[in-house]
Amino acid sequence: MMANRIRLTIGLLQGRSKHVYISERRRLVNGCHKQRLHFHSFHDAPYGLGQQMRITTVRLCLRELQAGDLCSLAGTINNPRITRNLTRVPWPYDLNDAQRFYEHTLTLPPQSAVYVITDRSNPDRLLGVISYEGVADPELGYWLDEPFWGKGIITEAARSVLRHAFIVTKVQRLLSRCILGNEPSRRILVGLGFRPVGIGSVYSIARGRAVISQNFELTSKEWRYTTITETRD
Ligand SMILES: CC(C)(COP(=O)(O)OP(=O)(O)OC[C@H]1O[C@@H](n2cnc3c(N)ncnc32)[C@H](O)[C@@H]1OP(=O)(O)O)[C@@H](O)C(=O)NCCC(=O)NCCS
Repeated sequence: MMANRIRLTIGLLQGRSKHVYISERRRLVNGCHKQRLHFHSFHDAPYGLGQQMRITTVRLCLRELQAGDLCSLAGTINNPRITRNLTRVPWPYDLNDAQRFYEHTLTLPPQSAVYVITDRSNPDRLLGVISYEGVADPELGYWLDEPFWGKGIITEAARSVLRHAFIVTKVQRLLSRCILGNEPSRRILVGLGFRPVGIGSVYSIARGRAVISQNFELTSKEWRYTTITETRD
């Protein structure tokens, strides 16, 4: 509702002024949002922060992680079937881990964004997380609450996130990887247009050992080509 909206004109971003809409006035009185908005300009703010805000897709709403999500985050990701396929996430996973992750999202490096995946009709319900993070070539990562697997949710979320990364954030190249044998994730990446670039070794905190990963990358050019081809078909 426009009457409830506050338009913030925030600094200059890459030579252009940026308008960010905060959808409800009451969000400003929430301590977490106060903290997030306490920047003088985008030059002071983490680059990804001002750009992520909210993305809606057919079924989903992707939004920033909020302090109120932390219990739900910890309860959802504390599932070994999820964490064993991730590299940087411990298991068991508790509220302290969620708090650390939240603090991390407040200081994202340039060209990075972290989104909570929610149901579009219920943006309070956390279904998973999707992000791209990194200083040079950011890495795409994601996970989803187990009851929601197999419905194409990550594919739907990732398509919008890629568009945002390549068009809005102007990322030139995204990396990603999945642990060897994680067929759903491999299929997601291939379906998104990622190109396999070999295998590597990566440490999985939840497994407590190094694992073999399949590595992928997708450049902005490749993504544009795939998107245009898909649109024409
Ligand atoms: C991997 C994960 C994100 C998949 O999310 P999802 O929304 O269920 O994925 P989708 O429904 O889009 O399915 C992805 C693909 O895997 C396929 N798939 C699903 N389950 C499968 C299985 N058990 N074996 C083989 N393929 C499978 C689907 O058919 C689909 O392929 P298609 O697009 O070619 O038809 C989810 O399972 C998850 O969170 N896993 C734990 C964390 C994780 O692995 N994160 C990724 C780290 S790289």
